[in-house]
Amino acid sequence: MKNIAVFASGTGTNFLAINKALNVNSRIAKVVLVVSDKPDSLVIKHAQKLNKNIFTFNSKDYKNKSDYENSILSKLEEFDIDLIVLAGYMRIIGKTILSKYYKKIINIHPSLLPSFKGIDAIGQAIEYKVKVTGVTVHYVDEGVDTGEIIAQETLDISNLTSREEIEKEIHRIEHLLYPSTIIKLLEE
Ligand code: GAR
Repeated sequence: MKNIAVFASGTGTNFLAINKALNVNSRIAKVVLVVSDKPDSLVIKHAQKLNKNIFTFNSKDYKNKSDYENSILSKLEEFDIDLIVLAGYMRIIGKTILSKYYKKIINIHPSLLPSFKGIDAIGQAIEYKVKVTGVTVHYVDEGVDTGEIIAQETLDISNLTSREEIEKEIHRIEHLLYPSTIIKLLEE
């Protein structure tokens, strides 16, 4: 049984999907900790309702990245975390955490990497008028959305007319792809 920490900054729909899937597959892993740089975010409200252990921080309260990442590290150690799952965590993981959890941090990104790295990947895809986009799950390395790809799923957007429709479809894919990829990885 592995212990997972989910890092998130936003609405937390991926956190909810992962938590639900792992409740069903409870012998494989459990989300035991939620980490967020946004104490007032929706993901934290969800985590509170689900009685999760929570660590929130405000980067402004720390001298630098390694300072706040050291606080996160002590939490990861306290809860004996095996895998870090980034789910809409809008910060770059620094070397303080990476050096301890290399190949044990994964991320989901709403594009077919290596296309449309960084922020607003869906907006970038719309701007480029691509006909096919998708979702990528990858290991986290020192770069931004550059780590080894673990899983991808495509989405034909040629008939989708609004950003809302595309976002809805991307989320639908994410909520299935992320939990199933995590389960597969941990079963290996
Ligand atoms: C997801 O669509 C995820 O792919 C994206 O943030 C969203 C979080 O949604 N992540 C990135 O863009 C990372 N570069 P959620 O808070 O509802 O899970």
